[in-house]
This record gives sequence, structure tokens and C-alpha cells, in this order.
Amino acid sequence: MSLDRYYTLGKTGLKVSRLALGTMTFGKEWGWGNTKEEAEAIFNYYVDHGGNFLDTADMYTQGTSEEYLGDFMKKRKLREDLVLATKFTFNTSANNSVNGGGNSRKNIRRTLEESLKRLKTDYIDLYILHCWDQLTPVEEVMRTLNDLVSEGKILHVGFSNTPAWYVSRAQALAQAHNYEPISAMQLEYSLIQRRIEDEYIDLGQYTNAGIMAWSPLGGGLLSGKYKPDIDHQENVQGRLKHITDNGGEVSSKDNERNWRIVTALHKVSEKINQPMASVALNWVANQPNVASVIIGATKLPQIEANMKTLDFDIPRELMQQLNEASAYEKLYPYTFFEPLMQSRITPDKKLGNKPPQYWKDVNIGK
Ligand SMILES: NC(=O)c1ccc[n+]([C@@H]2O[C@H](COP(=O)([O-])OP(=O)(O)OC[C@H]3O[C@@H](n4cnc5c(N)ncnc54)[C@H](OP(=O)(O)O)[C@@H]3O)[C@@H](O)[C@H]2O)c1
Repeated sequence: MSLDRYYTLGKTGLKVSRLALGTMTFGKEWGWGNTKEEAEAIFNYYVDHGGNFLDTADMYTQGTSEEYLGDFMKKRKLREDLVLATKFTFNTSANNSVNGGGNSRKNIRRTLEESLKRLKTDYIDLYILHCWDQLTPVEEVMRTLNDLVSEGKILHVGFSNTPAWYVSRAQALAQAHNYEPISAMQLEYSLIQRRIEDEYIDLGQYTNAGIMAWSPLGGGLLSGKYKPDIDHQENVQGRLKHITDNGGEVSSKDNERNWRIVTALHKVSEKINQPMASVALNWVANQPNVASVIIGATKLPQIEANMKTLDFDIPRELMQQLNEASAYEKLYPYTFFEPLMQSRITPDKKLGNKPPQYWKDVNIGK
């Protein structure tokens, strides 16, 4: 089983699994999660098969996800064996107070204490800023997190859903002041969502922050159980169906491009005789600078299948087919970093060693 191997988180000595267990599905509060018994079975399966990296957040299922994890770790006396990541930012205060959300020193300190209580522990291994609040100076965030490291309440720092310039600034501050740096960037990444490739792969490699990929199956779309027009699809159960049945929108996922990707994924899965979900997870795990893939499950058979995802290789030509089917349109300024434009800087023999005619061959400003 591939989870008996570990890697170190960012530039730290902390050893973590390449498949982390996502627990956003722990609890029924959001309508598509699981019962405590189902969540416990998933947790036990994951840790009993070598997994040691758990991901939650203060706001998941109104705190139930953290509560359950705390109970499960305590019951099995596993806290010291496990690497626990949780997050702050979204408003979790009882009366939705104006300072009850965000990345201010005041809110970070308040919400951390509540997470510790729910998780029944006195420290967090990886404390993650959940989302840029467009307000708090990065100096305040990094100083606060570094103080918490000094106090022993958190061990390492991560950022999620944050502009690359902000992460880069945070890393520069950490370097200049000898603060605890960002060791992990938690970002949405899957065959249907590849936008992070424009900035974050290089950013992570340059600053030693590994990517933890969230929603690697696009919320279940890449498992193969959905068909176009999810709204009217009969005989399917799952988060996306639950959302449309309850008046929500999955239109950003239920589109022509994504169904093309699902078709290509289906072909590859048939060729190598592996489930579609496993192939989709394997693709993410094998992208540059992806440190951990966060696998989510609502049912035990899903985690059983998903945990086998690193046990096979996708042949290079089939990887290429997946890459091509999921390629996305490059927008400005990233068009300037494409081979044709770059060949105007460093001639490329493969492109004929002939500089392109700037106005004709290169799509400027797109
Ligand atoms: N930092 C962030 O902002 C952020 C955001 C989102 C998530 N996350 C983290 O990432 C974790 C994973 O996110 P996600 O749940 O959206 O991941 P995902 O892999 O895109 O979706 C997981 C869902 O897909 C379905 N599924 C999984 N395996 C399957 C299989 N083998 N066959 C059929 N269906 C399968 C299940 O839902 P159904 O049974 O309902 O279909 C499962 O709950 C979360 O738990 C959380 O820890 C972080």
C-alpha cells in the first residue's frame, strides 16, 4: 500500500502522507456529509492503512468535523501519531460579529482556542489561513502565526486560497525576520481546475511550499457517476446531485469542457483498468510540486478505493491525453510565457529558430 511512505512537509522535518484525509464530509450539517459512525469508519480505515495527515477547518460542518476528529483521535489515543491541519478565516463567532472572521490577530487567537477545544488537543501541526480577507496586512498575519509557533500552540504554517503575490510577500517576511515560513499551500487542483498552474507551481518550488490539492475529484464529478445535465439525472446520489436538488448551482462544473475531460478520463481508466476516480487522483498526485492530495469520501468503499490511487502508474502517452483534454486557455500575461513568445527571447530550434512576427503569430493581450 502506497501510504507506508512519507515525505517531508515543505522545508521542515515533519513527515506526512502523500494522501491526506479530507474531513469536510464529517457531519450532516451541510446536507451531503456523513454520520458519525460512517466518518469514524473512514477515519479508522485511513489511519489503519498508514495515513497520518488529517485536514479539517474551524468552519466545516459548523465545527462538527473538528469535534468528530477530536473524538476519534482520543478514542484511539492517536494524537501524537497524526499530523493535524486545521484552518481559520471564515466567521465562526456565535453572533457573527464583525471581528469573528478574518485573519486579524484577534480572530486568529480566538478561533484557534475554539479549534483546540473541539479537537481535544493542545497544539495544531499545520495551521492554515483559509482565505485572503483582503484586509489584514501580511505583517500582522505572519507575526501572529510566528508568535503561536513560539508559544507551541501551532507547529507549522499554511496558506489556502490566497493570491500568489500575498504568499510571496509572506515568504519574504518570514525569510527576513526568521519567522516560521509557509510550508504548504492548499489550493483547488484537479483535471477540471488547473488555473493554479499559472502561478503556484513555480511559487511553491521557489519558496519550498508544497501544494496540498483540494477537491481533486471536482466534488465527485471525476468519479464518473455523473452525466451531462446533472439537474435532471436520475439514479445518482452524491454531493453535486444533492446541491442541484436543493436549488443550488453546479453549473460551473456541468459544462461542455468538463464533460470532454470526463470522456477522456473514462477512456484512460478503461485502458489501464483502474477506476476513474483513482486515475483522476493519480493525475493530480503526479503533477509538479504537488505534495499531498486531499482525498474526500462520504462512504467507506470510496476511501478504500481512493487509498489505492498511488499503487499504479499512468503510462506517459495516456498522461498526455489527459493533459490535452484538460488544457485550459492561457490568459494575459501568461501568454507571454508560452514557447512561441519566449522564443523571441531565447531562439528555440523546435520552433524553426525563426523569430515569430510579433503582430501575426502571437496572440497579444488575450
Ligand atoms: N482549502 C479549501 O478551501 C478547501 C475547499 C474544499 C475542500 N478542502 C479539503 O479538501 C478535501 C477534499 O475536498 P472534496 O471533498 O471537495 O474532494 P473531491 O475529491 O473533489 O470530492 C470528494 C467527494 O467525491 C465523491 N467521491 C470520492 N471518491 C469517490 C469514489 N471513489 N467514487 C465515487 N464518488 C467518490 C464523494 O462525494 P459523494 O459521495 O457525495 O458523491 C466525496 O465526498 C475536503 O475534505 C477538505 O479537507 C479544502
